[in-house]
Amino acid sequence: MPRILFTPAQKFAEVDPNTKILLAGRKAGVNVRFGCASCRCGTCGVKITEGADQLSPMKTDEEKLLKRLKLPLDGTVRLACQARINGDCEIDLDFQDTYNPEDINFLDEDD
Ligand code: FES
Repeated sequence: MPRILFTPAQKFAEVDPNTKILLAGRKAGVNVRFGCASCRCGTCGVKITEGADQLSPMKTDEEKLLKRLKLPLDGTVRLACQARINGDCEIDLDFQDTYNPEDINFLDEDD
């Protein structure tokens, strides 16, 4: 089973493949900030410090939301309510304090 480590708490969980980061956080007993749980609010961004290639590919909705938040699109930042775990990875939750989801720019919409 994939093993996911949350820092800085150093808590981990072993989860079934295809488990969302948000649910893995609950299993690990860490507080992952989130709101809508459906790729709309942008509050659940987390930094992937290891194993970015072990997560599900980014879908268009997630990419658009990260872009509106001016967050990286290279897979180092993912939405915990969208990215699914398929192998071992490490997640930095302190990242959640480094951006403000209210800064989302819906005017920058290109779709
Ligand atoms: S919780 Fe709203 S986008 Fe993930």
